[in-house]
Amino acid sequence: MINDYDKFAKERQLELKKGIKKPHRFIEKPMMNELLPDLTGKKVLMLGCGTGEESLMLKEHGAQEIVGIDLSKESIRLAKESYPYYEFIVGDMHNLPFDNDTFDFVYSSLAIHYSETPEIVYKEIYRILKTNGEVLFSVGHPLRWACEEIEVDGVKCRGIGHGISSSSDKVFGNYNSFKKHDHYFKNGEILSFYVGSPSFYYKLLKKVGFTIEDFSEGICTEEAKNIDYNYWKKYHEIPEFMAYLARK
Ligand SMILES: C[S@@+](CC[C@H](N)C(=O)[O-])C[C@H]1O[C@@H](n2cnc3c(N)ncnc32)[C@H](O)[C@@H]1O
Repeated sequence: MINDYDKFAKERQLELKKGIKKPHRFIEKPMMNELLPDLTGKKVLMLGCGTGEESLMLKEHGAQEIVGIDLSKESIRLAKESYPYYEFIVGDMHNLPFDNDTFDFVYSSLAIHYSETPEIVYKEIYRILKTNGEVLFSVGHPLRWACEEIEVDGVKCRGIGHGISSSSDKVFGNYNSFKKHDHYFKNGEILSFYVGSPSFYYKLLKKVGFTIEDFSEGICTEEAKNIDYNYWKKYHEIPEFMAYLARK
């Protein structure tokens, strides 16, 4: 089954806690951490919170009240068990069970890109944020996800580009399209998510009414260099994720 968040929730949580999920440990969470503002005294919603690990980072930044919401019942069960002092609820990001102007800050790591209709999610975030409230979210970067498998000098590669000669109509990848991508993990998990270009998200956020305050294309941290040099080399040069900080 595709996007079986319940089935893989426990395994995912263990990997996050042990720090063996390289994209999270070396790229995505450091990128989010760097963009997070001071949250002292703020009421924060974790959207697509999974098993709740990000509450630790939000707390470090001063969050006073933390609420997590996720579609996966098993993820929410594990979040409640692991972080009993916060509130976790099962719910859909397209139809948030909160009143208008409820939160000061919305945090969302790698969750909104599961939506085929991100505009609906942005509208919901806008609705539940207080005036001047902010949202920080990350999604996949098209330079990583909109590539095609090609072979260059006998090496299998991910590539985006096109034939150079005027007679060539070869195009590899689809950077400008908002498109569904399926990713097959070694443990059997299959995730299906949508990736668009940076300008696609930028325009959508502006359309909903947000002002974009910051943007990042996470760079693999130096820590990874000694642990997995090849991983570091790839994602030091090619972004895998991107993040937006926007204000209502
Ligand atoms: C890759 S996980 C990220 C979890 C956590 N934010 C993290 O980075 O560790 C994506 C999460 O989004 C949740 N999700 C997917 N679609 C959702 C929806 N429509 N509403 C709420 N949560 C959703 C999934 O259940 C899953 O827990």
